[in-house]
Amino acid sequence: MSSTRKRILVTGGAGFLGSHLCERLVAEGNDVLCVDNYFTGRKDNVASLLGKPNFEAMRHDVCFPLYVEVDEIYNLACPASPIHYQHDPVQTTKTSVSGAINMLGLAKRLRAKIFQASTSEVYGDPTVHPQTEDYRGNVNPIGPRACYDEGKRCAETLFFDYHRQHKLRIRVARIFNTYGPRMHPNDGRVVSNFIVQALRGDPITLYGNGSQTRAFCYVDDLIEGWVRLMAAPDDVTGPINIGNPVETTVAELAHKIIDLTGSRSKVEHRPLPVDDPTQRCPDISRAKSLLGWEPKVPLETGLKRTIEYFDRLLGSNAAPAEARTVA
Ligand SMILES: NC(=O)c1ccc[n+]([C@@H]2O[C@H](COP(=O)([O-])OP(=O)(O)OC[C@H]3O[C@@H](n4cnc5c(N)ncnc54)[C@H](O)[C@@H]3O)[C@@H](O)[C@H]2O)c1
Repeated sequence: MSSTRKRILVTGGAGFLGSHLCERLVAEGNDVLCVDNYFTGRKDNVASLLGKPNFEAMRHDVCFPLYVEVDEIYNLACPASPIHYQHDPVQTTKTSVSGAINMLGLAKRLRAKIFQASTSEVYGDPTVHPQTEDYRGNVNPIGPRACYDEGKRCAETLFFDYHRQHKLRIRVARIFNTYGPRMHPNDGRVVSNFIVQALRGDPITLYGNGSQTRAFCYVDDLIEGWVRLMAAPDDVTGPINIGNPVETTVAELAHKIIDLTGSRSKVEHRPLPVDDPTQRCPDISRAKSLLGWEPKVPLETGLKRTIEYFDRLLGSNAAPAEARTVA
């Protein structure tokens, strides 16, 4: 147990990434308060923590002010997949912008350190590759993804204005595609989509010709990066890219998942969605030099763990060969 037990607020703590973060912070002995409105998060994600004396869950929408006493805040609340954030785009922008204002206001009152889960989407459909933090992005401000991209950009603006104007201690991480157990099975994200389709034996839906690349970071690696960023000296404000720089084409990913699940699914091509970036890959030099951080979990290892999770969730028998032997 850590000797410096902190009171830590995690907004969006019942979501995919939030639940892993809560687990890590609770295991380190901190007092963790998980706040969530359960829009995309699930109580199941934090069920194993509920019996712990240093964990508490509260239903709350970050669009409204919150009055609690904490030492650190991780602000994650925001639907993260296009299906969910486009469901109610006005609410998405409100969550990013009003949520940031409310959490920054709380941090200011408490003089607490505050972390923002920003996103590679602030780079839009990038014209430089890989993306460094000083690249200002290529975002369509009126497209269907803008509620998320521009909401997150505005949240970054607010973080840096609170830092300059009120000397708030801030940390801004720009997160790239992350995958792992507890992803939402119906969120339309490429890894969960392909795994669920493969396990069910449904066609694998590949948008475009599949040559668009993504760089996938396993959740444990990501959380390690966040915790290091939060613990870094106060002049390390970010923005700092946290993601895996190893690029994979979406077609390669589909075939890897078909192999690992032993699925008979066939690949089916569909048109590319509007504003879907063709290439997305972080330059993580800053994270390496400032945090001594880089991802460690290879794609195949992470995919096997994720497939095991979805296999249990869906109750199917199509686990990867290795997982079946172990079980
Ligand atoms: N997973 C990724 O690859 C990725 C990439 C870039 C950025 N991010 C960012 O990381 C954060 C977490 O993403 P995730 O993948 O865990 O998504 P998620 O949808 O699983 O988690 C988001 C959580 O926020 C909660 N939430 C949404 N609106 C809220 C509101 N108004 N008040 C309180 N809670 C609210 C949801 O119920 C959910 O539990 C998000 O801010 C997202 O933008 C994630």
